[in-house]
Amino acid sequence: MEEKTIKIALLGAGTVGSGVYALSEMLKDEMPKKSGAKLEIKKILVRDTKKEREGIPRKILTADWAEIRDDDEIKLVVEVMGGIEPARTFITEALKAGKQVITANKDLLAEYGQELLTLAEQCSCDLHFEAAVGGAIPIIRPLKQSLTGSVLTEVMGIVNGTTNYILTKMTEDGMDYSEALEQAQKLGYAEPDPTADVEGYDAARKIAIMASLAFNSKVTFADVYTEGITKITQRDIQYAKEFGYVIKLLGVAKLRDGRIEVKVHPMLIPDSHPLAAVRDSFNAVFVHGEACDDAMFMGRGAGKMPTASAVMGDIIAIMRNILHDNCGWNGGVAYKNIPVKPVEETESRYYLRLKMEDKPGALAHLAGILGGNDVSIAQMVQKRRYNGIAELVIITDSVRERHFDDALLAVKEMSVLKEVSSVIRVYEG
Ligand code: NAP
Ligand code: HSE
Repeated sequence: MEEKTIKIALLGAGTVGSGVYALSEMLKDEMPKKSGAKLEIKKILVRDTKKEREGIPRKILTADWAEIRDDDEIKLVVEVMGGIEPARTFITEALKAGKQVITANKDLLAEYGQELLTLAEQCSCDLHFEAAVGGAIPIIRPLKQSLTGSVLTEVMGIVNGTTNYILTKMTEDGMDYSEALEQAQKLGYAEPDPTADVEGYDAARKIAIMASLAFNSKVTFADVYTEGITKITQRDIQYAKEFGYVIKLLGVAKLRDGRIEVKVHPMLIPDSHPLAAVRDSFNAVFVHGEACDDAMFMGRGAGKMPTASAVMGDIIAIMRNILHDNCGWNGGVAYKNIPVKPVEETESRYYLRLKMEDKPGALAHLAGILGGNDVSIAQMVQKRRYNGIAELVIITDSVRERHFDDALLAVKEMSVLKEVSSVIRVYEG
C-alpha cells in the first residue's frame, strides 16, 4: 500500500526554520513510523529568496504568502519567522483556510494567544506552540494536558537561554557582559534584537504564556512586571557568591489569595538550590500544584536544533491528528478571569548595595530608615572602605515591595548617601 504524504509549509528559514528543515531530512525514513505518513516541506516563506541557505533547495523558497495560503495541498503551516505582524495575519488566514498551525512565536502568543486559540477552536484546527517556551523542554503540553488534574498554584523558572548563558559566563569565567552576549548571539540563542532577551521581555512573554495555561486565566505580556540583567555587575556576582548565592534571571507566577502575581527579574538564589545548577543556555521550570506537588522540567532552552526538536514534535503530533481526523482540540483557552496583583502589593527579600560617607551615626540612621518602613535587615556587611566612603551590602527579610520602595526613596534622601549601586531581589524559599 502506498504511504500517504502530508505536505506542509514553513514561514521562516532562519535559526529555527533551517533547523526544522534539517531535522525533517534527518527523520525522513523514520517519519512514516513516527507519524503514519511521509512529510514533505513543500514551500518555505522567506524575505529574501536569493539568499543561499545551506541544504535547502532554492525552488521551494517563496516570498509570496498567498502561494502558501491558497495551496490546498498544504495542510499545516509552521510559523518560525517571529514578530507580531505579519505573523498574526498569516496565522489567522491559515486557520481560516482550514490549515493546522504551529508557532514558536512567544511575542505573538503573549499578546494574542487567547484570540488565536479561540479562532483555532472555531475553525476546528490545531494550534500548537511547544517551542515558544523553554526550547526543547516539554512544558506547554504538560501544562495543557498532563498537569490539568491538579490545581496549579506556582510556575517559576529560568526561561531565557541567552541571559542564563551570559550570567553563567560572567559567574564562572569572569567574562564581561558584552563578550558573553556576543557569544550567545553567535550560538543562535538570542532573539534578532537581543534587547528582548537582556531586558527580560522574552522571559516575560514566556511566563505570561505559562501563567495563562497554568491558571486558566488570560495573562498577557503587559501584566508582567519586568526587569532585565543589564545592571548586573561583576561586583554583585562576586558578593552574591560570598553570601552563598548565584544570580539568575527568573520568571515567577503565583496564584495567591485569588490573585495572580507575575514577575521577571534577576534574583539571588542559594547556590544549593536546583536552579543554581541550571547553566549555559539550559532552562528549567518548576511547577507546583495542590495535587501534583512539585514538578521540574529542564533542558536546552534555545538554539537551532533544540528548538527545531520541539517544533518537530508538534509536527508529528499534528500529522497523526490529520491522519485520524482528530484536529481542533487545543486546550489552554482561558475560562477564568483572575485579576493580576499590582507588583507593589507582592512581597520580596532584597539585596541592596550602596555607598555612603563613612561617618559616625550613618549606619544607625540607615537602619532607622529601613526599620521605620517595615524593612527588617537579615544580613549587613561593610565590604570596602576608601577615601572616606564605605560600601555596604544589606540583605533584607521579606517585605511588601511598596514598603521597600518607600524605604529606598528615603535612603536616597540621606545626606551621607553617595550611591545606591544595586537592588536585586533574593529568593524566599
Ligand atoms: P531568525 O533567525 O531571525 O529567522 C527569521 C526567518 O523568518 C528568516 O528566514 C526570515 O527571512 C523570515 N522572515 C521574517 N520576517 C518575514 C516576513 N515578513 N516575510 C517573510 N519571511 C520573513 O529567527 P529565529 O531565531 O529562527 O526565530 C524564529 C521564531 O522562533 C521567533 O518567533 C523566535 O522568538 C522563536 N524562537 C527562537 C528560538 C531560538 O533559539 N532562536 C527559540 C525558541 C523560539 P530571511 O531569512 O529572508 O530574512
Ligand atoms: N532568545 C530566546 C532565549 C530563544 O534566549 O531563550 C528561546 O526562546
